[in-house]
Amino acid sequence: MTKKSHAMNVSIILGVSAALMLFFLVLVAHHRSIADRVRLDRSALLASGSSVAERIKPVGQVSVVAAETPREPVKNAVAAPPPGRDGQQVYRASCVACHGAGIAGAPKVDDRGQWARRIAKGVDALYASAVNGVQGSAGAMPARGGNPALSDAEVRAAVDYMVARSK
Ligand code: HEC
Repeated sequence: MTKKSHAMNVSIILGVSAALMLFFLVLVAHHRSIADRVRLDRSALLASGSSVAERIKPVGQVSVVAAETPREPVKNAVAAPPPGRDGQQVYRASCVACHGAGIAGAPKVDDRGQWARRIAKGVDALYASAVNGVQGSAGAMPARGGNPALSDAEVRAAVDYMVARSK
């Protein structure tokens, strides 16, 4: 190895180490600033109102509330009488099978003799019997005439219709 090439080697080593040191300095400086940047990002997120609780809240929550709100009106819409469905219509649909001809111990509509003692109990007692059902000595009156889809108002309207025809 000549003297000249030895000097060149030294300067190469010096140059490489200087470059390495510079690199490490930049690296260290870069990582030292990370903590500061995280703090900045955090305060920016907090300031914008997106809290952790907000960001991890369930996505489905809003749609569940929206789906529950109309549940009552929908159910009522199914059970409620269609407009114009009166006592006579309910009677013909759900009561005439037994009360038309006086089948299975049912008091026959138009038969005043059979209805007089029932009407004497008061209309509220008749409503209650028709809505809840009665077990009599002659036969059984099923709740709502066996049609659970009828509303209380529909059953009462049918009772009014039957009573009006039987006194
Ligand atoms: C399956 C046959 C049957 C059907 C359908 C039926 N009923 Fe009756 N109902 C009876 C019988 C049987 C009695 C008598 C029960 C008793 O002995 O008190 C009766 C009694 C009644 C009474 C008198 C209750 C009392 O306390 O005296 C009313 C009011 C009445 N029904 C209303 C209705 C109405 C309204 C409907 C239709 C929505 C209807 N029923 C459908 C069999 C029926």
